[in-house]
Amino acid sequence: MNTTNEISAAKALEQLTWLIEMGADEVLGDEPVDRFAASAKRLQQTTASTAAVGGKPCAPRKTSTRATTLPANNEESVQDPRQLANRCQSLAEIEQALKIFDACPLKRTASNLCYADGDANARVMFIGEAPGRDEDIQGKPFVGRSGQLLDKMLSAIGLDRASNDVARAAFITNVIYWRPPGNRKPTDSETLMCMPFVERTIELQGPEFIVCLGATPMQRLTGRTEGILKSRGRWLETEIGGRTMPLIATLHPAYLLRQPAQKRLAWRDFLEIRQRLDAKQLVADVVEVDND
Ligand code: URA
Repeated sequence: MNTTNEISAAKALEQLTWLIEMGADEVLGDEPVDRFAASAKRLQQTTASTAAVGGKPCAPRKTSTRATTLPANNEESVQDPRQLANRCQSLAEIEQALKIFDACPLKRTASNLCYADGDANARVMFIGEAPGRDEDIQGKPFVGRSGQLLDKMLSAIGLDRASNDVARAAFITNVIYWRPPGNRKPTDSETLMCMPFVERTIELQGPEFIVCLGATPMQRLTGRTEGILKSRGRWLETEIGGRTMPLIATLHPAYLLRQPAQKRLAWRDFLEIRQRLDAKQLVADVVEVDND
């Protein structure tokens, strides 16, 4: 008697074909796997076995926190997202570093890296949660239905991610750079692995302030734990690279698509964002006139 759950290859193929016909487009495990811990363990075992056979373990590479070249894709770089991120000197280098950063398990199930969009000189940076299906396909943040709504909201306050006029430009990114399978909530370890790159992006892009779209980026950047309905619309702060940066949180466009009546709250937040941009511009203009 066959007491296992084994099935023949033909039966497996038949079931798989049926699932694909029903619209399945990815394979999910029941539980997220912490590959960061698994690869740390592998590294430990490799070091121990090198020592055990009398081999000389490699001397650790000297790393400067501000080296200009990116490290090769070796175990060291895989293990230390902070070190990898801190070596980057431009947004292009961060994108390159993310391409060789293999420790985040989400990368294995995603189709594309989804780093950022918009103009690097923008005065304001919008930070969302994680890419969805459309973003995963196109490799750009906020290009699906939520992105289309975000574009309309930006346009309503005179901003446009496609503009490189600094008065209109907007920079858009997420706290997670690869789509979580089935759009599940990213685990803490997945989010923590991306944070050094998020922080370095903020340091290098240097916006005047940040707009968090939804609770996840607000909580990650401020350490606050309350929900978005409580924290939205108020000026908060985050510490990035020794600099205190103003930050405001608003409702995520995906939430607004589900709860259109809440758009009035988001509209208030966007008017606040517009006012802040205008006020800062006014101060900058006065300083310029004084200096002339
Ligand atoms: N939702 C997000 O938070 N980010 C995206 O890029 C798309 C949808």
